[in-house]
Amino acid sequence: MIDELEIRDLEVSIGQKKILKGLSLTVRVGEVHALMGPNGSGKTSLAYTLMGHPDYHVDAGSVTWRGEDLLSKKMTPDKRAQAGIFLAFQYPSAIPGVTVASFLRNIYNAVHHPKQPAADESDGAMPKYTGIPLAKFRKLMEEKMALLHMDPAVAARYVNEGFSGGEKKRLEMLQMAIINPTIAILDETDSGLDIDALRTVAEGINATLSPEMGVLMITHYQRMLNYVKPQFVHVLLDGRVVMSGGEELSHKLEANGYDWVREQVGLPSGVGDEVAEPVAEHV
Ligand SMILES: Nc1ncnc2c1ncn2[C@@H]1O[C@H](COP(=O)(O)OP(=O)(O)OP(=O)(O)O)[C@@H](O)[C@H]1O
Ligand SMILES: [Mg+2]
Repeated sequence: MIDELEIRDLEVSIGQKKILKGLSLTVRVGEVHALMGPNGSGKTSLAYTLMGHPDYHVDAGSVTWRGEDLLSKKMTPDKRAQAGIFLAFQYPSAIPGVTVASFLRNIYNAVHHPKQPAADESDGAMPKYTGIPLAKFRKLMEEKMALLHMDPAVAARYVNEGFSGGEKKRLEMLQMAIINPTIAILDETDSGLDIDALRTVAEGINATLSPEMGVLMITHYQRMLNYVKPQFVHVLLDGRVVMSGGEELSHKLEANGYDWVREQVGLPSGVGDEVAEPVAEHV
């Protein structure tokens, strides 16, 4: 079994719009990859596709995780999470009425102690309880909250309701720290964080990182990569990874934008982002 997420020639569309047009990328456990690309180039679409969002239609290509087909019908998003894949959302949703503590315990159990099929009711047996004991979970949660310098009072608040942008991102990282995934996809976790919060969140990521975890970090900015060092940096343009390199590539992108990449790979200026790409309805 190879501990890698292998994306090969992936083509994805949403409605009539083709977003990914043959994207290939391999993330091995223990590696940190950064994925950069202009607005609308398809970074979030890739993350959603990997997690099994039903709106994103896979037209061609393959994704395997540890040699198994991740895109198979039976790999519903919950199964993908149980297989060790985690996504930190670019735009986390609020869940009014559900406290952070209850939410975190539920996602922990859903990933690490999925419910067994209900016991045969005819014999009157109750399904065997397999969740983490409350006290043990509290301890885990408090330990991870301290790691991310979070106010313990957050645990009693409703998920993301009234949270600031930075607080939402921190809660995404708390979820990651608690679940301890094998492949973590972080979609612009750095956006909306102030300088101090960026450092704290990055420290939290680094503390969660281990040789047993691979990371695909989607970002627009070098600043996060100063803290969480990637071994590989990829550029997504026109629906494909058109360039890969080491950390130095992110510095070059920060300083010079994407036009030089387009030029180098033979794409016309402006291709690969939503600003320049004609929208079907308007053509
Ligand atoms: N549900 C949807 N319906 C219609 N178009 C969509 C949908 N989701 C994504 N798109 C389009 O797909 C393209 C890629 O979007 P995506 O969110 O993946 O970009 P991104 O690279 O994550 O951009 P950003 O850097 O701004 O987050 C965009 O043109 C977007 O408008
Ligand atoms: Mg995005």
